[in-house]
Amino acid sequence: MTRTPTPEDKFSFGLWTVGWQAVDPFGTNTRPALEPWEYAEKLAELGAWGITFHDNDVFDFDASDTERHDRVMKVKDAADAHGLVIEMVTTNTFTHPVFKDGGLTNNDRSIRRFGLRKVLRNVDLAAELGAKTFVMWGGREGAEYDSSKDLYAAMERYKEGLDTVAAYIKSQGYDLRIGLEPKPNEPRGDIFLPTVGHALALIAELDNREVVGLNPEVGHEQMANLNYTHALAQALQCGKLFHIDLNGQSGLKYDQDKAFGHGDLSSAFFTVDLLVNGFPGGGPRYEGPIHFDYKPSRTEGMEGVWESARANMEMWIMLAEKARVFRADPHTQELMKAASIDQLIQPTLSEGETLDAFLNDRSAYEDFDAVAAGAREYHFVELYHHAMRHLIG
Ligand code: GCO
Ligand code: MN
Ligand code: MN
Repeated sequence: MTRTPTPEDKFSFGLWTVGWQAVDPFGTNTRPALEPWEYAEKLAELGAWGITFHDNDVFDFDASDTERHDRVMKVKDAADAHGLVIEMVTTNTFTHPVFKDGGLTNNDRSIRRFGLRKVLRNVDLAAELGAKTFVMWGGREGAEYDSSKDLYAAMERYKEGLDTVAAYIKSQGYDLRIGLEPKPNEPRGDIFLPTVGHALALIAELDNREVVGLNPEVGHEQMANLNYTHALAQALQCGKLFHIDLNGQSGLKYDQDKAFGHGDLSSAFFTVDLLVNGFPGGGPRYEGPIHFDYKPSRTEGMEGVWESARANMEMWIMLAEKARVFRADPHTQELMKAASIDQLIQPTLSEGETLDAFLNDRSAYEDFDAVAAGAREYHFVELYHHAMRHLIG
């Protein structure tokens, strides 16, 4: 290990990650189940700062109130005893058959009412445990068949559901924000809010939009052939990057949930570069947990579970160190300057410049030498290659 993780790293894991027993559509579990508090203890031992969970990672769907309380308290006690923060709590609205057509956008109104109540119950739990983020991953909100839905109504119901949860958070005075987690497909053929961009557009239409932001996941953007770092950047630019799910994905295939960086390594490097160093010209920063949502591959036993958990943290530490050195390197700065990256933060119109003044500025258009400007160099390849020198040189 490069160095031991510390609480300042704010590393956090879902209990369902190391807790995945590796059941997939083709095979049974390859690993035993531990109790949720046992996973928490082990994660603390490995250097995690926080944990997150779904209601049903801790207690069964049909648990009695006493059982629910007892099991939650066992996790809370384990977290307290090991100095772990429960930073995010979420609701499972995807496993039980009742949710096979979704919770908030189910065609069946009675199921939507049930789903919403299940969510609100866990909003209370999240607040009680001191979580700051309430993720909503609508994995079953979607369709396989274009004939199965009134798509306008589905969006309206999604908005209604989110606004109801957000209004409830506000009415209770909870210090909690919703993080929507986009995903293009799996388990549904098409999931609603497939990308960060779709989610941002829906959030902008909510009455209680200030409480609702994003929890983008590496693999989910990459499954749609999109750029995760760009997704984070746009969420930041909108003030909506509330939480992150880091993992690894090797291109367009099923949601692999590999360890962070064990997919597109150079993309992971630039993700860390953005999160650690910020935008080159300044701007909003992400200060939240470094949360891993990965699955130890089915080939791994319990040793592999803990090795892979450690691998996520070590990957972050290694990339963060390299990203810092990369940005601080004077040659990087020179190349960034040669690429005119510093000019991009400068407004295109001058301060106070009127539209008339702009239209009358002959140097901007009539006298502009487009041929000379078209021949300029950017050195983008050299700059990227210099990053690769830092990454693997
Ligand atoms: C997935 C998702 C989930 C969510 C989790 C928390 O593809 O399975 O990433 O793991 O992150 O349900 O909301
Ligand atoms: Mn995923
Ligand atoms: Mn996730």
